[in-house]
Amino acid sequence: MTRIITQEEKDAQRVFADAVREYYAALGIAQPLALVRTFGCQQNVSDSEHIKGMLALMGFGFTETPEDADFILFNTCAVREHASDRVFGNVGRLKSLKREHKNLLIAVCGCMAQQPHIAEKLRESYPFVGLVFGTHVIHRFPELMLKALRSREPVTEIPVEDGVVAEGLPVCRDSHFKAWLPIMNGCNNFCTYCIVPYVRGRERSRAPEDILAEARALVAAGYKEITLLGQNVNSYGKAEGYGMRFSDLLRAINDIPGDFILRFMTSHPRDASRELFDTIAACDKVSRHFHLPVQAGNDRVLKVMNRHYTREQYLSLIRYARSVVPDISFTSDIIVGFPGETRAEFEDTLSLVKEVGFTSLFTFIYSPRVGTPAAQMPDPVDADTKVAWLRELTAIQEEISGRISARLVGTEQRALLEARRDGYTEARMSDNRVVR
Ligand code: 5AD
Ligand code: SF4
Repeated sequence: MTRIITQEEKDAQRVFADAVREYYAALGIAQPLALVRTFGCQQNVSDSEHIKGMLALMGFGFTETPEDADFILFNTCAVREHASDRVFGNVGRLKSLKREHKNLLIAVCGCMAQQPHIAEKLRESYPFVGLVFGTHVIHRFPELMLKALRSREPVTEIPVEDGVVAEGLPVCRDSHFKAWLPIMNGCNNFCTYCIVPYVRGRERSRAPEDILAEARALVAAGYKEITLLGQNVNSYGKAEGYGMRFSDLLRAINDIPGDFILRFMTSHPRDASRELFDTIAACDKVSRHFHLPVQAGNDRVLKVMNRHYTREQYLSLIRYARSVVPDISFTSDIIVGFPGETRAEFEDTLSLVKEVGFTSLFTFIYSPRVGTPAAQMPDPVDADTKVAWLRELTAIQEEISGRISARLVGTEQRALLEARRDGYTEARMSDNRVVR
């Protein structure tokens, strides 16, 4: 059951926020400084923006220099081993800083922190970390912060409060023209390699009127790009029965007057319907880019991954999309070296990649995650072979990406100017490619 946080709960957090402010004032610190480091996906980036909103409410300013900070927070990702290792490395380096700066509070939150064995490891080996909290209690951050400041012992809070939707959290956005707009959280798919359903809980969606109100406010504030976020946006509202599905939501946001581009991620091929592509065709503000993670090109591997579609079903979806939205560009995620994947099965991934012609790919070597079914499966292919396969795949993709880009030389495209870097101007086209 989806449970919306009540006004009383929100009011209680404001009282905690005031108490945090007073705590620092009593120490003679007029404006404490916070440093927030974010790892992982856009969902995490968005969570950090809300955490920063709450920090601002507690009177914090922000810094990028650890030596200047009174509070350092790592918002972590658990999807692959590499991300976790980086967090432990980063946290470990703060040990001496904490020794010199007694008032410094170090905290770890996010998907990694939500895993009990990680919380345990932090408690045992990193006792200078004063606060560890998971993905389900972000809306209680002021309360947890106060508890950690007042406690001599590290505070750990990683309950599974499934189904919670927190509306009206303050937000401190990183950009003034690009906005993340979460529409749902959690995942029900249980792909056998993936930790996300364990750390983010079951799917729950925000009410359409809350999403639409936020979208209208963003457009009114001059935002030019809005990206709808969810682990599986295509199953928006399924659990709640709002009477509005993802396609309806896209149409409703598309109808908001103003000049902006509407993006969304991530989509599961199992739930991406033909109707969705019809909707994209009918909506002028929706970007001509679709991120559709395929993971593998072989039916046996897809089945063991618990993906619920075949290679042919995936390809047929792509063909349909191109028939109704001819200029649509596809990107994808691929896992190389899933347990038991053979050379011949990996070659099916290569042939699928050639057949689709993705504009770009995110490629990963399979990383075992504690508690997932795949971590128990025999995995006979050695690491060097997997690295060689990954290189083979990325070389093929680079060639394809180059060919697709070459086709655009000399054409006129609309793009959103994002940054000036190293003497270049960078702009993003509707199909999500960056032009320098
Ligand atoms: N190992 C490697 N890659 C993974 N991904 C998810 N779990 C794992 C894992 N255990 C990849 C998938 C997913 C992307 C976000 O990360 O490709 O789409
Ligand atoms: Fe990483 Fe997944 Fe959590 Fe995003 S939702 S931070 S990708 S584990």
